[in-house]
Amino acid sequence: MFPTIVYGNRRKNLRAELSGGLILFLGNQEVPFNYPANTYSFRQDSNFSYFFGLDHPDLAAVIDLDEQKDYIFGNDVDMDDIIWMGVQPTIQDQAAMAGVQHTAPLTGLNDLIKSAIARERKVHFAPPYRGETILWLSDLLGIPHLNLKENASEPLIRAIIKLRMKKDPIEIAEIEKMVDIAREMHTTGMKMAKPGVVERQIAGTIEGIALSQCGPVSFPVILSINGQTLHNHYHGNTLVEGRMLVIDAGCENDLHYCSDITRTVPVGGKFNARQKGIYEVVLNANLAAIKAAKPGVPFREIHMLAATEIAKGLTGLGIMKGDPEAAALKGAHTLFFPHGLGHPLGLDVHDLEGLGENLIGYDEEVQRSKEFGLAFLRFGRKLQEGFVMTIEPGIYFIPELIDLWKAENKLAEFINYNVVETYKDFGGIRIEDDILVTADGCRVLGKPIPKTVGEIEQIMQ
Ligand code: GLY
Repeated sequence: MFPTIVYGNRRKNLRAELSGGLILFLGNQEVPFNYPANTYSFRQDSNFSYFFGLDHPDLAAVIDLDEQKDYIFGNDVDMDDIIWMGVQPTIQDQAAMAGVQHTAPLTGLNDLIKSAIARERKVHFAPPYRGETILWLSDLLGIPHLNLKENASEPLIRAIIKLRMKKDPIEIAEIEKMVDIAREMHTTGMKMAKPGVVERQIAGTIEGIALSQCGPVSFPVILSINGQTLHNHYHGNTLVEGRMLVIDAGCENDLHYCSDITRTVPVGGKFNARQKGIYEVVLNANLAAIKAAKPGVPFREIHMLAATEIAKGLTGLGIMKGDPEAAALKGAHTLFFPHGLGHPLGLDVHDLEGLGENLIGYDEEVQRSKEFGLAFLRFGRKLQEGFVMTIEPGIYFIPELIDLWKAENKLAEFINYNVVETYKDFGGIRIEDDILVTADGCRVLGKPIPKTVGEIEQIMQ
């Protein structure tokens, strides 16, 4: 945990954003994997972590905005628990670490919430995303589970977004440590990417680096020679010369700060001419986006800059044609770059996403597009100092999408379909860094991870 004062200050800042009522936070519970006693690894809810820092299951917290009182609710372990789990800190000791004075067993939470509802006091809560929490919340509030989302408190959601989006130095230091461990995961993966190796050997090794140095991976490892599938979790292919290996992986620590890095390397360690050509287009888009990221610039503008770079590069390779800017405006690049440029990163790998993508990433000024490609951009609004974002352009040759567009002769004024056909066996390339938006630009977090053609070929030798 951070020092107690950190959590006290965070709650003070939250109180300042809301006018009255209670704020209810339900911590996460253990979730069964295949039978009740065999659970997934416990992962605390990120809002609970942010405001209270406590990393045990079955806790709840209330901030009473009118009475200026904070509560932690939970049950102390009994002898049966001690036999199986060992001695655990008491609820009172845990609350003290979070700077909270009032504690009670979980039945007390029921009483407090029921009495608040009876007195028509506002109970603010964030939208739940786990089945167990949905049931618990529904039971506590007497709201049918299907109606919980629409009853979540928008003022609370907006306040949490405002506070959590801007990372302070202690948070940035934690994220940066995770980027450095991701660096070791990626450089190890690069060195292992030789013909004959099976993907899962690399996936397991790099996941082991995370587990042995910090906590779990921050999302299931994406690692495939079929990188044209954006989130490919199948790890059964044998690496063969001529394929590119996409590795998209990061880790999180015991405070739950995350990293999320992607590198793509040629199996065997040497780029052929075709691979180098496409790789450098993605790299230019990544570098141009990083150069453009600064406070006040809408992220959508940076996404479009990367899209234009991709259109320019693919035009240079004869895969696209015509004016690259016009091509990007018409969305012709989305045949190759169908996803968004990046997303916020922090306590969640897609930070805050559970609160609602549009509330996090869009506002009155920048509204979410419904167009294919741009609609997948999770965040479009202006950047601010302190935001941590991923920058992750890519180029993919998705045979099924190519067939669909070609059959429709879609945007044929910008696409050389005959040339595209020859890339259907290419796979995909993505290059992703984690950046911190600074006062006048941005900084790529962590120690540099090999990224240029020369750096990658060198480390893979
Ligand atoms: N890096 C995985 C994701 O952004 O979803």
